Amino acid sequence: MHIDAPFELVLFGGLGDLALRKLMPALFLLHRDGRLPDGKIYAVTRREMSRDDFVSRIESSLKAHVPSECLELQPLDTFINKVFCLTMDVTDEAGYQALNSVLSQDDINRLYYMATGSDLYMPICKGLHSAGLIKSESKIVLEKPIGHDLETAQAINDTVAQFFTEKQIYRIDHYLGKETVQNLMVLRFANSLFESQWNQHYIDHIQITISEQLGVEQRAEFYEHVGAMRDMFQNHLLQLLCITAMEPPAKLDPDAVRDEKVKVLRALKPITGDLINANVVRGQYDSGVGEGQPVPRYRDEPGVHAKSLTETFIAAKVEIDNWRWAGVPFYLRTGKRLAERTCEIVVQFKEIPHSIFPLQHKNTMANKLIFRLQPDEGVRLMLCEKRVGPGMNVRPMNLSLNPSNQRQTRVPEAYERLLYDALSGNATLFLRDDELVEAWRWVDPIIKFWTEQEQRPEPYTAGSWGPAAATLLLAKDGRLWDENS
Ligand code: BG6
Repeated sequence: MHIDAPFELVLFGGLGDLALRKLMPALFLLHRDGRLPDGKIYAVTRREMSRDDFVSRIESSLKAHVPSECLELQPLDTFINKVFCLTMDVTDEAGYQALNSVLSQDDINRLYYMATGSDLYMPICKGLHSAGLIKSESKIVLEKPIGHDLETAQAINDTVAQFFTEKQIYRIDHYLGKETVQNLMVLRFANSLFESQWNQHYIDHIQITISEQLGVEQRAEFYEHVGAMRDMFQNHLLQLLCITAMEPPAKLDPDAVRDEKVKVLRALKPITGDLINANVVRGQYDSGVGEGQPVPRYRDEPGVHAKSLTETFIAAKVEIDNWRWAGVPFYLRTGKRLAERTCEIVVQFKEIPHSIFPLQHKNTMANKLIFRLQPDEGVRLMLCEKRVGPGMNVRPMNLSLNPSNQRQTRVPEAYERLLYDALSGNATLFLRDDELVEAWRWVDPIIKFWTEQEQRPEPYTAGSWGPAAATLLLAKDGRLWDENS
């Protein structure tokens, strides 16, 4: 799909953390690569500021977050000419009339991007509607977390649906825009080799890890109300699980893909009552080391309550009740201030039934397929080979599945891909309303249980791999987290 008609992008939360760190850099890179058509980008903010101050904010965010070799002068200048600051209070309907006077009066390709807290989605939609700003070519992008629980997510779905049709709504999860996630779909559905093995007969278990070295940074106000479950698990981790576990869609179109993902979410075995403590580990970082420096505990971070019960780590054993996956646990974990920044999906195949070779440790040498999303993207298959020399000794080896001729190509940022898709009207990598609801339906009892119990998350040392209970979660099943790759 190609965008050729002019566009307008109205970015609510236009000078917020997400806009400056991810969205502006992604838009700049699309522009630099000649992929953005003619258009205007309006950064909506409450703050009054001069054009010079605004431009210097945008330039410094690009300098900080775009690889220096991509920051050539000419595209930088032409990009800045496309970006405008719009001061308005989004909760005041009067501001939308002013917005109307700035935007094109034609029904052009217009994207409203909600880079704000989801509590503002309703007033913004109402304001846009009241000023007649929602036309047939308008689209809306909703950032996660959408809602605070099942009830609020449903309420947001219902409100947004009063003003936009489902085809105009793009619920973003930037992990779906990562190159390796799409490669996972290609490897699964463009090859016959893996599909025949992709089930409970051959797979022992699957691990999905998203670990960060960063702490809460300056985002305590947001994070204190959200925690790792709403920030990472309900969306990014469950989406990665869906792409890994879904049935082959009949075609690569938005509804075919989303139908299959929603079936996975509906087949997740509920974790409720006593099962919660047995299957879900909740942690909060203590002081320790972060990126080589001593760092404070979460409760001592600026803006965090001294007795905060917010979790910064989750590990869970998740099961899918269907024919393909019965009996195959999916171990999911995510956390801040962990030992490394990484994101991996590890598909652990079953061990061979019988070894004829000496020194082949059946369990540690079972095949593994590893999809690495970051820091470097790539796919590896762990196989066994003969150790060169006398005898018939076996050793593990890694087969890199990255074609070398593609290594030179710059890997696009997830937001580049997704902004381009939203502008060109391709919703395949965005969530549908029912997917959002099913994901909340599954996590809701767990969140409610924690809220009722007022349980303190288990402390873990910053710079470690999380609480000991997360190691035990797998050890109980005779397994280990894959931490050596
Ligand atoms: C965001 C979360 O969705 O993802 C952040 O709100 C987190 O807390 C970020 O740091 C991680 O994204 P990435 O692409 O840097 O792994």
